[in-house]
Amino acid sequence: MYYPEEIIEEVREKNDIVDVISGYVKLQKKGSNYFGLCPFHNEKSPSFSVSPQKQMYYCFGCGAGGNAITFVMEYESFTFPEALKYLADRAGVKLPEVEYSREERVQADKRSVLLEINKLAANYFYYQLHQPQGRNGYEYFKKRRLTEDTIRRFGLGYSNKTSSDLYQYLKSKGYQDPILKESGLVTMEERGTYDKFWNRVMFPIMDAGSRVVGFGGRVLGDGEPKYLNSPETLVFDKSRNLYGLNYARTSREKCLLVCEGYMDVIAMHQAGFTNAVASLGTALTERHAVLLKRYTDQVVLTYDSDGAGIKAALRAIPILKEVGISTRVLDLKPYKDPDEFIKNRGTDAFRERMEKARNSFLFEIDVLKQNYQMEDPEQKTRFIQAAARKLLEFDEAMERDNYIQAVAREYMLPYEDLRRLVNRLGNMPGTVKSVPDRQQGTRGREAGKKKEKDDGNRRAQRLLLTWLIERPGLFEKIENIVGPKDFVEPLYGQAAKMVFEGYEKGKLNPAEILNHFINDEEQYKEVAKLFHAQLEESLNNEEQKKAFSEIVYRVKKNSLDHASRNAADLDELQHIIREQASLKKLSITID
Ligand code: UTP
Ligand code: MN
Repeated sequence: MYYPEEIIEEVREKNDIVDVISGYVKLQKKGSNYFGLCPFHNEKSPSFSVSPQKQMYYCFGCGAGGNAITFVMEYESFTFPEALKYLADRAGVKLPEVEYSREERVQADKRSVLLEINKLAANYFYYQLHQPQGRNGYEYFKKRRLTEDTIRRFGLGYSNKTSSDLYQYLKSKGYQDPILKESGLVTMEERGTYDKFWNRVMFPIMDAGSRVVGFGGRVLGDGEPKYLNSPETLVFDKSRNLYGLNYARTSREKCLLVCEGYMDVIAMHQAGFTNAVASLGTALTERHAVLLKRYTDQVVLTYDSDGAGIKAALRAIPILKEVGISTRVLDLKPYKDPDEFIKNRGTDAFRERMEKARNSFLFEIDVLKQNYQMEDPEQKTRFIQAAARKLLEFDEAMERDNYIQAVAREYMLPYEDLRRLVNRLGNMPGTVKSVPDRQQGTRGREAGKKKEKDDGNRRAQRLLLTWLIERPGLFEKIENIVGPKDFVEPLYGQAAKMVFEGYEKGKLNPAEILNHFINDEEQYKEVAKLFHAQLEESLNNEEQKKAFSEIVYRVKKNSLDHASRNAADLDELQHIIREQASLKKLSITID
């Protein structure tokens, strides 16, 4: 580990989880836990719980979970050392200044090393852009009218024509092949190792904290692919990254502008619209929306004016609405994208368009209208009916009425007639969509059963661990029956071993156990889940007792079945069979 375990644990202990999370999420006490709206997914009723006893959080909606350290890692997208530093400062703990070899650090914290490599690469590309060999790249940016200031601010660069000079450079800095491969900056093949980016102008992609998480590289002229992007890595997740957010978040504008591409963000920023971000060619996801919602509740979409851009806007609107963002859509016609618009019409004209950006609902109606020939009375009637149906999306009477007025005005329809039509449609019984029966073959059914059984066994193991953590008194009940080895799922076994050891030492500390898995996001999430299994809350005392004994039985049985499948010899098998027989007589009583 990068830091000694005791230090990590000290930092964690001195930061009470309820305290830490209260700084980000409004929490309410309910029983022995606290609840709030989950900051990691979009929800309307709180399923995010924080347990002072376990010093852990867990979301029963999306499964996000962990301790105080993982919380700030997730929320602030901090690396582990960054999170530790942040919490140490918060609690006034002084971290030791220890130098570790690069190899040790690679092991300890890959994310930090990947960020370090990305930063070096960005500097390297930036340097190349200003060298004679980068002249083509530099001229390309000049042709696109970027100023030196803009180039510096966005850290734009150039990747050389030679096929592996970045690779050589990073090697010379002491990074080994495996981590370089993981950075996505090089491709390793039998024939040799090459830079992924080659003769392209480079756009470093930064996260909200201005750390370089990936790159986009554009061809200098025409060519395919136009943009080449870093693959997803430990530090680069496209579905949660917004290009330009590191600057836009501090722009102090009421709204954020959301566009499609690198050059659009850069052109808008250069023109003074520093509140622009882009989802970079991928469709806007719920994760993006949740991220945007941290900074604003108003978005202006400035997608391309072509068919694809309109489609992307239609998809984004409900996603944004779902998280509570109201959206307007900016009309760029006759230009293709914000970059072209600003180049041709200038800043003032763009600002004017921004002020006139269309309410997203009316934009949707505009698009709908294009499917109908309004000169034809029948088509026009159909359009009005479709618009009326869409107006039913508003549950709230006043809001709906405001929109009925707006649609009537905009499309010159008699308000009263439209209102009556909407109400009539609203009172009609909705048609229930039928879900077709899924035809499953025998094989599918068998596979399904096996999976169900596996899930059941895993669930039993989770429930047992959760019970033991929440009620350590139960350890005595299972002492001679179940041990850590009976948790056959390897990760569960590891966690169980620490739970049992903790109990024996009289220091059962789930949040501390989690520290051991902190370098692997998948693993710590899984372990957090392991400590938060939920039994039907409605069970009464009697039922709980019965459930507990069933769970113990199930865990043990699964473990024995597993062992019998893997028995090395006959002796061992016979021993297992005897145990299986005595398991049938198992009876546990809890009070
Ligand atoms: P566009 O094709 O609209 O490019 O793609 P653009 O932003 O206008 O770029 P210029 O002005 O021609 O240089 C929009 C975004 O989609 C992603 C990029 O993020 C791009 O900015 N994209 C596009 C790719 O990732 N790969 C591609 O090949 C094309
Ligand atoms: Mn463009």
